[in-house]
Amino acid sequence: MNICIVGLQWGDEGKGKIVDRLSEKADLVIRYSGGANAGHTVVRDSSEESFKLHLMPSGILHENVLCVITNGVALDAEVLLGEIAGLKKRGIEAKNNLRISGRAHLVMDYHKKQDQLSEDSLGKAKIGTTVRGIGPCYSDKVMRTTALRVADLQNMDGLKEKLKRIVEYKNTLFAALYDDNEPLEYEPILEKCQYWAEQLAPIIVDTTELLHKAWGQNKNLLFEGAQGTLLDLDHGTFPYVTSSNASAVGLPAATGLPGRAVDRYLGICKAYSTRVGAGPFPSEQDNKIGDYIRDKGHEYGTTTGRPRRCGWFDAVAVEYSIRIGGINEVVMQHLDTLSGLKELKVCTAYHYQGKKLDFFPAEESVLSQVECEYETLTGFDQNLRAVCSFEDLPMAAQQYVQRVEEILGVPIRMVGVGPGREQLVSRG
Ligand code: IMP
Repeated sequence: MNICIVGLQWGDEGKGKIVDRLSEKADLVIRYSGGANAGHTVVRDSSEESFKLHLMPSGILHENVLCVITNGVALDAEVLLGEIAGLKKRGIEAKNNLRISGRAHLVMDYHKKQDQLSEDSLGKAKIGTTVRGIGPCYSDKVMRTTALRVADLQNMDGLKEKLKRIVEYKNTLFAALYDDNEPLEYEPILEKCQYWAEQLAPIIVDTTELLHKAWGQNKNLLFEGAQGTLLDLDHGTFPYVTSSNASAVGLPAATGLPGRAVDRYLGICKAYSTRVGAGPFPSEQDNKIGDYIRDKGHEYGTTTGRPRRCGWFDAVAVEYSIRIGGINEVVMQHLDTLSGLKELKVCTAYHYQGKKLDFFPAEESVLSQVECEYETLTGFDQNLRAVCSFEDLPMAAQQYVQRVEEILGVPIRMVGVGPGREQLVSRG
């Protein structure tokens, strides 16, 4: 069975925990998009510190799983090597179980600098990126002549030539556009590349070939999406999105496998909504309710530490993500976070200029002005962390899940009641 995990909101839905859980039955776990902008927190055992991963597939905690980073990823070698070293300290030899694509694009220091300069220059119009150089890296991929791929690390002579030209180009660009007067030096960047080349050489492969062979041998493939559908470059809340296809639509391009290689799409959402960075957020609660959810759910970015914006569950947005991704089943995370609220609200429709909309709007100018129609449900007080079966949840919590499921029209198969591996309640 080949499963693709997709975020149904604006990222941070707790995908890492589900990937970790499903990895028990997977042969390969495949990270196929985004880069070190993502942050996956995996709790292996509640008695030990959690694992915070940005690039490493969350399946790495399972010894028998081969982890693969495909061509669609913006690969920050420094971050990846840092994660490999961090895992080694905790007894996990990640390199034994990790393969990366030569076709993946390298995130360089000048990409991060460009991200920062661009955001600083935009003032109020900024996107609120994670400043991990993701947008500039993917821009260079599209530009082609200014791109560096992982495979370039295998041909140092060619890389030296390209790098010299690119560094000169970036310095000229930054000075002209941003008045930048601290040009980048070529030598230290080249030294870094040489180090990456040595370190990564044993694990660079053609992941397209590897995946096709594994598929042919009926291995169980688990695809780990990064960010969420509403941050998808094509189908998200543009321009406040990330620079890759964070929904499932990008999977074939980002892996080289056809769409029919996936048997089941599993969408992950939280029992409420969150968003980091700028952009429209119709059900946002910039008030005591939002503060309550942020504190209780520890809603601070894994990558940047920024406080996340919080709001009610937006069924219009999630239903849209389900359509885009062809989602078969849903996991609802963080139900425990809602405990203690007297009333729970679910956004069931958007109104724009007096009219009810019947589809998620494509334009930011519309989405930023819609008004939410809410359905109010009864809240619950109990602590859910020790609950092991759906039937043991308080009646109001069960009814909340059942009502959301009814609105979405797709089964909610699992419900998260805490951060730990075991704190997931299965249904049906
Ligand atoms: P970028 O991906 O760093 O260019 O940021 C673009 C937008 O995507 C910003 O609003 C970020 O906050 C958001 N973003 C990127 N990665 C994540 C993530 O893993 N979780 C949540 N938001 C993200």
